[in-house]
Amino acid sequence: MSKPKVIVTRKWPAEVEAKLKALYDVQLNEKDIPMTADELKVALQTADALLPTVTDPITADILNVEGKRAKIIGNFGVGYNNIDINAAKAQGLIVTNTPEVLTDCTADIAMLLLLMSARRASEGDRLVRNRQWKGWCPTHMLGQKVTGKTLGLIGFGRISQAMARKAHHGFGMKILFCDPYPPAQDIIDDLQAVRYETVEELLTEANFVSLHCPGGDATRHLINEERLKLMRPSAHLINTARGDVVDSKALIKALKEGWIAGAGLDVFEGEPNIDPGFLDLDNVALLPHLGSATEETRIGMGNRVLENIAAFFAGTEPRDRVV
Ligand code: DGY
Repeated sequence: MSKPKVIVTRKWPAEVEAKLKALYDVQLNEKDIPMTADELKVALQTADALLPTVTDPITADILNVEGKRAKIIGNFGVGYNNIDINAAKAQGLIVTNTPEVLTDCTADIAMLLLLMSARRASEGDRLVRNRQWKGWCPTHMLGQKVTGKTLGLIGFGRISQAMARKAHHGFGMKILFCDPYPPAQDIIDDLQAVRYETVEELLTEANFVSLHCPGGDATRHLINEERLKLMRPSAHLINTARGDVVDSKALIKALKEGWIAGAGLDVFEGEPNIDPGFLDLDNVALLPHLGSATEETRIGMGNRVLENIAAFFAGTEPRDRVV
């Protein structure tokens, strides 16, 4: 029997690509150049499985292409807002994602940004590199203490809970969260977490606010000018979720005018073309979407896609089916 045809849209870790080669008739993307909409359409027409990632917009126009051969889209990423899920559903396509394997590494980056923002780490690094540091003195570059402070989490899924564990058990932080679907009571009890009914209430209480909700229409600009004004002037906003959850223009204004003290961002609206307004601000720590960027995690993500498509080709239900 011939092997199923699989098309991978970007370069993956070598270890996972080797497995793909052994198991499938695979088309890899060794040059790692993003595929165009037309190329993605052809991929759906010629492969049994398309394996895109979070930066490939799989739009309704692409999904509605005539003469599709593909039956499954195995997304390399836990977020799948790059895929028009309604169109995929209407076309009878199965979509899978890669949860769990990136939980801790993404939570680490959220915690890293929280610490960087609180302790002015990017600004300090720039000062040293620019040879402007004049030496230690009692009032130089004072940031804010993290230990014992209050962390407000918007969205309380796996990554958010992992951050809460690090923050609560490691830094003695008090945990607040807002999520319409709270986790089991034993998780809440372990973290001594307090549930808030509204984002507004949480924003007024927290010293640090970290975003952990999915991207997409439902959460677009959830953090807007009005809500930023509810935050404390000493508060910091951390975003490792999706760029469009925050209105960039409003955040730049908030950081410039001191409505909040700082921000730590790993994701951006329109990334990698980030709003230049962020670049001149000292009170924002910027990372290039590094949440899941560890060797272990990226291999884990690839293996999880493999597991999902293997289940599909074996005629069973992929464990990470989202549609
Ligand atoms: C995801 O998987 O959704 C991340 O954003 C990539 O790290």
